[in-house]
Amino acid sequence: MGITTTVSLGPTACGGWEVPRLPDVMEEAFSRLARDRYSVRDFLPDPIPAEVLDAILEDARYAPSWSNTRPYCLAIATGERKDRLRKAYVQAFDTSLGIQHRKPLAVLAGLFLRKGWPDADFKTWGRYPDRLRERSVKVGVGLYRHLGIARGDRAGRDAQARRNCEFFGAPTVLWVLVHEKLLPFSAHDAGLMLQTLMLSAQAHGVGSCALGVLATWRHPIDAEFEIPQHYKLVTGLALGYPGTAVVNEFRAEHPPIDVVPARDHG
Ligand SMILES: Cc1cc2nc3c(=O)[nH]c(=O)nc-3n(C[C@H](O)[C@H](O)[C@H](O)COP(=O)(O)O)c2cc1C
Repeated sequence: MGITTTVSLGPTACGGWEVPRLPDVMEEAFSRLARDRYSVRDFLPDPIPAEVLDAILEDARYAPSWSNTRPYCLAIATGERKDRLRKAYVQAFDTSLGIQHRKPLAVLAGLFLRKGWPDADFKTWGRYPDRLRERSVKVGVGLYRHLGIARGDRAGRDAQARRNCEFFGAPTVLWVLVHEKLLPFSAHDAGLMLQTLMLSAQAHGVGSCALGVLATWRHPIDAEFEIPQHYKLVTGLALGYPGTAVVNEFRAEHPPIDVVPARDHG
């Protein structure tokens, strides 16, 4: 169905302009698209054809942004560059394990020699506020349970965490950088663009997983890309065709959005 045949623009009965309307079948298709997307954590090595990646990036252009500033940029890696980046991220991850396990000597070496210490633009390690932490723990526990990794199985947990730094085997990886002078709005705009990109990917049969963990280390991308001044790393994103590993059967819960109570004036 061509998109042009579905758009009807004109004044509504109330006199205002209508947003472009889609026939019911496309509303359903959109709901399915939004609901079927999930974080893919195992990818086939098959590359995404250039024209498919281009089409996805074209769709992402249409995301709204604060005053149309589009205050973000992407660094995109495939092939050998992506392989070098994977190696650099795995090395950074492995070097940081002692700190992650809070081993006193590793923490001291991290603090004083910077060994294994994150060089993030923004802190990615740290305790979340309690109510938000509950949600994060819930999805983490659910994922590890799904994978049969026990709470005390440190090696199993580390191996699964390391998979993040291997980009879950994805053939294409993006890094999202935002202009520091327009924060927090630049990060918000990048999120809008990223969701447009992920949904377009989904529509093209391409899976995705945001990889916030990649924002823990900045030096690997500085070695590979000419990143403009003032742009700060907020997240990575893996793209590719979903693999057959059991991890891809995991689905997170999606509870209703928090809506604050209205004040009672009467
Ligand atoms: C900015 C951002 C960063 C994320 N970072 C990671 C990550 O580093 N590793 C990971 O496995 N999932 C990551 N996720 C995926 C979330 O865990 C996931 O979106 C959430 O649990 C809901 O699940 P769903 O995407 O399958 O609907 C990230 C998501 C976002 C939006």
